[in-house]
Amino acid sequence: MSVLANLRHDVADMPASQQPNWPDSAHVDSVVQELEGRKPLVSQEECARLTERLGEVASGNAFLLHAGDCAETLEYDPDTVEHTTRVILSMTASLLNSGMKVVKVGRIAGQTAKPRSSDTEEQDGIALPSYRGDMVNGLSFTKEARQPDPDRLLQTYDMAEHKIAQQKRLTNSDFANLEHANKWNIEFADSTQSARYMAMTKQIERSIAFMIATGADLDDVRHTEVFTSHEGLILPYELGLTRLDQDGKPYDSSSHMIWIGKRTLQLDGAHVAYCSEISNSVGAKIGPEMTPEEIIALCDKLDSHRIPGRLNLIARMGVDAVAESLPPLLRAVKSSGHPVIWSSDPMHGNTYAEVDRKTRHFDTIYSEFDQFIGICEAEDVWPGGVHLELTGENVTECLGGIEPSGIKDLEANYNTACDPRLNGEQGMELAFLISSRLAKL
Ligand code: PEP
Ligand code: CO
Repeated sequence: MSVLANLRHDVADMPASQQPNWPDSAHVDSVVQELEGRKPLVSQEECARLTERLGEVASGNAFLLHAGDCAETLEYDPDTVEHTTRVILSMTASLLNSGMKVVKVGRIAGQTAKPRSSDTEEQDGIALPSYRGDMVNGLSFTKEARQPDPDRLLQTYDMAEHKIAQQKRLTNSDFANLEHANKWNIEFADSTQSARYMAMTKQIERSIAFMIATGADLDDVRHTEVFTSHEGLILPYELGLTRLDQDGKPYDSSSHMIWIGKRTLQLDGAHVAYCSEISNSVGAKIGPEMTPEEIIALCDKLDSHRIPGRLNLIARMGVDAVAESLPPLLRAVKSSGHPVIWSSDPMHGNTYAEVDRKTRHFDTIYSEFDQFIGICEAEDVWPGGVHLELTGENVTECLGGIEPSGIKDLEANYNTACDPRLNGEQGMELAFLISSRLAKL
């Protein structure tokens, strides 16, 4: 059997959670075949470059900013890509002020599949399949929209192709030159005249001026690369886009990095099996229930060759659990010697409902991150990065920060297809706090 056929076979043998009930498996097979014939969305060289950059994070010489949408839709809107890229670059400028190199990875160009806690959703006594993200079905609560449709895998590919091309154009052009950072903020500068916000933009300008004055390597400032990532949830999509690299090893050409979500992280499951066999860097969401024995077994599977930057352990504990749950895991992984990255997702453990809206509070988000840093410091582990759900659009989904401040403000522009995201200003404010915290390390 060929390497790819072997991989497909191995993955098919394992139980795969969170997969849709596709109505017609022959249709799924034909879509996978079509994906196999399409060109890679990302090259193996780019994936290897990301792993190398993440290796610097693993060794404590860089910080990972991993951020973007919770659930992308199939629609390609160039403005949204531009606005979100601008926020990520602005946050980077702020983080660079801590003296740290920053590796940027977007949740973009394939982040269209969502794990769900229930297979069905009920409204007014009617039960329909849950919305599993635009890669699978539609958000509207109708029988037609909620029917899983494999053609959506191809539509995700098309959307991803456009976004990757646009992001490359942006980051290869003067748009991404940090010396122009003051202009990136124009988009959201009009929305508030708050003194805090103006202070932040000034801070970015000062950081750039400082870097120029100290003769820092401006090449890194003028050209930049934002890598792509998504949750590798729907296996036919990932398998259809798996290619062989020049050494004949499989890599996932759908994205530079994929991660395994908390709900699909079964040690003997198909998602772990797939990720253990591809050469891309991979992430794994680590919740508070994980035991030291399990995390070592996970590292042995996902990082069997002990490659720095290959495995990103993304702690998503919740503000009340992190202090107790994280230290034993840090110790276990440290004693195992796996050169992993530890990063913090301070969002997914802190979602709650305000009336009928899911939201998260800025202060809680920062508090989990701040505790993460303190715990890493105490355990002598490098706090390697932050994982955030955000958008460059002026949404009102998370409370706190500059705005929105009250529950009623959530209504103004609540647009997410799934979880509440930080808006550009909240992202910037958070980057500012993180940067000040990192500078104290
Ligand atoms: C996500 O990152 O969108 C997600 C669903 O996270 P988790 O698997 O940590 O719940
Ligand atoms: Co989410």
